[in-house]
Amino acid sequence: MKRSVVLGATILILCSFQIAKQIDPEKGLKNYYNSYFPIGVAVSGQSLKGQEAAFILKHFNSITPENAMKMGPIHPLQNTYNWTEPDAIVDFAVKNKLKVRGHALCWHEQTPKWIFKTNTGAVVSKDSLLNRLRDHIHTVAKRYKGKIYAWDVVNEAIDDNPANFLRPSEWLKICGEEYIARAFQYAHEADPEAQLFYNDYNTERPEKRERIYKLLKQLKDQGVPIHGVGLQGHWSLFEPSKTELQETIQKFASLGLKVQITEMDVSVYPWEKERRKLRPGEQQPYTKAMEEKQSAKYAEIFEVLRQERASLTGVTFWNVSDRYSWLDTYPVEGRKNYPLLFDQEYKPKKAFWSVTKF
Ligand code: XIL
Repeated sequence: MKRSVVLGATILILCSFQIAKQIDPEKGLKNYYNSYFPIGVAVSGQSLKGQEAAFILKHFNSITPENAMKMGPIHPLQNTYNWTEPDAIVDFAVKNKLKVRGHALCWHEQTPKWIFKTNTGAVVSKDSLLNRLRDHIHTVAKRYKGKIYAWDVVNEAIDDNPANFLRPSEWLKICGEEYIARAFQYAHEADPEAQLFYNDYNTERPEKRERIYKLLKQLKDQGVPIHGVGLQGHWSLFEPSKTELQETIQKFASLGLKVQITEMDVSVYPWEKERRKLRPGEQQPYTKAMEEKQSAKYAEIFEVLRQERASLTGVTFWNVSDRYSWLDTYPVEGRKNYPLLFDQEYKPKKAFWSVTKF
């Protein structure tokens, strides 16, 4: 046989193999990233039943409880813990050999009312609050020891106002900066094997990145048991840029920390913090232009993530498909968003193909 014929045939076989690989309907998102990092998703107890459960198992190999392990839902009264939903999520993961990221041990939102108050309604003392924090972290993290491999220990401690360093939360006001190091110490006592993360949003914006870096460096210098930083990844068609993302991952990794994307979505609207009402004419269908831009943004982001795989130990999406996203109600109640890789019928979007074609 002529050499050119053999060459031609080989190219043909390789091409069809490539195409088959891309359109293989059995291949889930996680399979494309097998040799890169686990691919996770935020779930509720409800999502782990029926068809949604099968879909999750096809595409993801890690889960994060979207709300069930936050302090308010899991520990609503001083002597009451709600274990039903978090236990169901962890059991599902164990049964199906999925990784679990725990979220979150200390945050200023979704906190139970009792935690900052004495039984007469006064502001609790620093010592009592730290004791409560320790009891909470010990109880929750010990219960799932060996089953939850990574915890978001402190969530969103940096202030939104660039003029300030830390957020003036009840934690900070009552305990001072110390609560952050303490939370990590308590989590480490409870589960010495667990990887402990600081988690935040807008981490790629240079001024916020600097403040987060300062906090992480302080913790490292003090010998606090912290192992990683979670970039929430609540991104949009408009940010971050490739360079911003790359520089952020590299900068945090230079502290000897692992990096994860913990709550990824790419909103079709610009980022806003404050909740507000829907403006007339603002609700938009998912347009072709959005589809194109979103697919390009996802492609760009995943290109950087693959390049930085040595520092990255996980990428988790915040919700399963565009059928339901927390961004449908936040920051604007009733403004539908389309931030994920699967559409409202669970079909892969253009963005899905753009992150799996490499
Ligand atoms: C969100 C949940 O998705 C919503 O269901 C809930 O009403 C509010 O919290 N940063 C975080 C997550 O760390 O815990 C938040 O999750 C989204 C922003």
